[in-house]
Amino acid sequence: YPKVSKICCIGAGYVGGPTCTVIASKCTDITVTIVDINESRIAQWNSDSLPIFEPGLEEIVKSRRGQNLFFSTDILKAVKEADLIFISVNTPTKNFGVGKGRAADLKHIEACARLIADHSTSSKIVVEKSTVPVRAAESLSRILKANTKPGVTYQVLSNPEFLAEGTAICDLLNPDRVLIGGEDTEEGQLAIAALSSVYEVWVPKERIITTNTWSSELSKLTANAFLAQRISSINAISAVCEATGADVSEVARAIGMDTRLGPKFLQSSVGFGGSCFQKDLLNLVYISECLNLPEVAEYWQQVLNMNEFQKSRFAKRIVETMFNTITNKKITLLGFAFKKNTGDTRESPAIYIAKYLLEEGAVLQIYDPKVDSKQVFADLSGTLSVNLSEVVTVSKNPYDAAVGSHAIVVCTEWDEFTSLDYERMYSRMLKPAFVFDGRKILNHKKLIDIGFHVETIGCKLNNIDQSKYLFSCGEGTPRRTQEHRMRFA
Ligand code: NAD
Ligand code: UDX
Repeated sequence: YPKVSKICCIGAGYVGGPTCTVIASKCTDITVTIVDINESRIAQWNSDSLPIFEPGLEEIVKSRRGQNLFFSTDILKAVKEADLIFISVNTPTKNFGVGKGRAADLKHIEACARLIADHSTSSKIVVEKSTVPVRAAESLSRILKANTKPGVTYQVLSNPEFLAEGTAICDLLNPDRVLIGGEDTEEGQLAIAALSSVYEVWVPKERIITTNTWSSELSKLTANAFLAQRISSINAISAVCEATGADVSEVARAIGMDTRLGPKFLQSSVGFGGSCFQKDLLNLVYISECLNLPEVAEYWQQVLNMNEFQKSRFAKRIVETMFNTITNKKITLLGFAFKKNTGDTRESPAIYIAKYLLEEGAVLQIYDPKVDSKQVFADLSGTLSVNLSEVVTVSKNPYDAAVGSHAIVVCTEWDEFTSLDYERMYSRMLKPAFVFDGRKILNHKKLIDIGFHVETIGCKLNNIDQSKYLFSCGEGTPRRTQEHRMRFA
């Protein structure tokens, strides 16, 4: 294959946008065009306000846009001109028909394949960037080859993306590895070499690994399954900690120092969210069932079941701690995104918690630094019988969100939540005032000293019986008894 000089990326989302922006910034001799059917998304990519928030992304987009980086809705033109095409479209869980609720919906991938086949007048390397079930490249190849025009050839590669949201730019600039799967034929190997040469501009060669196509596809599902499994494993232990007096942070630290286990991805939480883990686990479960491997399917299903258990355990604890009723009580939700440093709310545990609390009759005051009220209302609409606008307020700052509230629930681990003035928050709340730290990021001792009753994941805290104390309801420091002061001196 000649050197890649024109890249088209179909799908200007969380993967296509950052990935191809980084390629454009590192390979300034390659023209990169990112296309999408969503006109407003492309307009945002071409504006001052990008459609997604990722630390460091805006600077790179602005430095390359109009130079060798373009965002366009003219898909046909970009496809025709490109010698390498990334398919980065969404592959959501099917919500209809066979495999409903589990299988991956590949309709967008197939649409891309047909469009490429119908409009290409020169040979292309077609790269599966989206996460797909193992052997999806086979269908892609068959559609392309069944519709090929004379003189045009295709090589299909698998090049799954391992970036995590919130750290996408760092992950792309310094990846643990780049994985490329292709056919074990001369043409296949040449295509792998052509794609590899793009990454080699900034990724050390030893970190670019090549495999057969099916191993590459399956490695992506496996990586996400293992990562999610670690979170579910530590969350399962958090329930044991709460029942016994052990502390899950201490357990995580102790096991994480074993070099065979390592310290990462052992942060117990309200449960994992995001657009990938659940979807990809469901996909793996479905594939295993189709391959007549029910034991394998059941094994991975359990990772999801544990995540549901963790979310529901936390939500139930909120209600139980607040005297088993939250009807008409205002509750402050800090964080709505599925993790910090992103505005993405897909499968966010905050949505589960919010819906649970609303169904129990609560009134929610929500604050997230990167999620706007339109998104919050869209995420909460549909399943609830309540009139949302009467029971949900989205605040512009955390202090407004705390006014008249009975409890603060931390759903996302935003750094700014650790440095809020909790005395000020407390003074605006009703008493007893509760904190439920679903991310284990706050200084619990300090909060208890202020007067809060604090609950968190995976350990029992030494809360004071607040009924013994007098608290003021307005602004100002709460009155504490001598006993309280001595305890936290
Ligand atoms: P996304 O929904 O943010 O973006 C996908 C884009 O593709 C959308 O803008 C949509 O309009 C566009 N699209 C769909 N069909 C199209 C078509 N026929 N022609 C042109 N554009 C079309 O999705 P995402 O989060 O970027 O994920 C994309 C893929 O990457 C998925 O398979 C996902 O599993 C995988 N992935 C995601 C992440 C992540 O962190 N989000 C990480 C690794 C892999
Ligand atoms: C994940 C994978 O990490 C990434 O490699 C893949 O390409 C896409 O899916 P992402 O979903 O963006 O990335 O974020 P990730 O950092 O994996 O977090 C997923 C969820 O797990 C978040 O809700 C996060 O808060 C939660 N999490 C993560 C924990 O609860 N504990 C941890 O220790 C780590």
